[in-house]
Amino acid sequence: MIRLKTRDEINKIKECGKISAKLFKHLEQYIRPGITTRELDTIAETFIKSNQAIPSFKGYNGYPASICTSVNEEIIHGIPCNRVLAEGDIIGIDVGILKDGMISDSAKTFAVGKISENIQLLLERTEKALYKGIARVKDGCSINEISGAIYDYISPFQYGIVREYCGHGVGFANHEEPEIPNYRFKNGKRKLKTGTVIAIEPMINLGEDSLFILEDGWTVVTIDGQFSAHFEHTVVVTDDGYEILTIDPDEA
Ligand code: MF3
Ligand code: CO
Repeated sequence: MIRLKTRDEINKIKECGKISAKLFKHLEQYIRPGITTRELDTIAETFIKSNQAIPSFKGYNGYPASICTSVNEEIIHGIPCNRVLAEGDIIGIDVGILKDGMISDSAKTFAVGKISENIQLLLERTEKALYKGIARVKDGCSINEISGAIYDYISPFQYGIVREYCGHGVGFANHEEPEIPNYRFKNGKRKLKTGTVIAIEPMINLGEDSLFILEDGWTVVTIDGQFSAHFEHTVVVTDDGYEILTIDPDEA
């Protein structure tokens, strides 16, 4: 069942989303060669709490940290640890913010120092794919219109489009219905209504789409060891389009 959100609930998610956007801005200055992913987690947790909010991933299905830090071939759900970032790495940071009973979900992949040109393109195209999907959001649109827009934009590049993990409804919980894949699917004809809040999150691999989960039970990595990028926004469906909730409106 898709649980629609009221204006008041949407405004609360927007408040969470604003904190997430400010958090990414804050973290950016620390994402340099030499820092560990655990240090980034600590900085994030302190920042979130200083905004009277709670990291919604912590404790979710036993997840042990405040953010997910996925480095290089790690696609999603990397656990912060003593790994030291090096020049040329990329790091996907995924964060859920809980405040006033509502949750936002967003992610962004950052370059550590200077990265190679093909990886830079992977990041740019994955973020662009996210916006291609968002652009289709509108009352009455089908999930396949969103999923298909992401798929069609990425297809010509011959990247691996992750299939086992998808976008999803969000707001009252970290994961709600409906599922938003990054490719067309059988039940994708379902139409979305005003007040539906979804997280759209393309996960795109430089190589093939196949993946596996590490021994830690969380970290999802590419099977061929090639790099992977991930960008995510929480978006609400409106009568005439959409509103992105995980931005900082104070920013120009
Ligand atoms: N945003 C993540 C997702 O949609 C949620 C991660 S939950 C965690 O998959 F517990 F893994 F952090
Ligand atoms: Co998500």
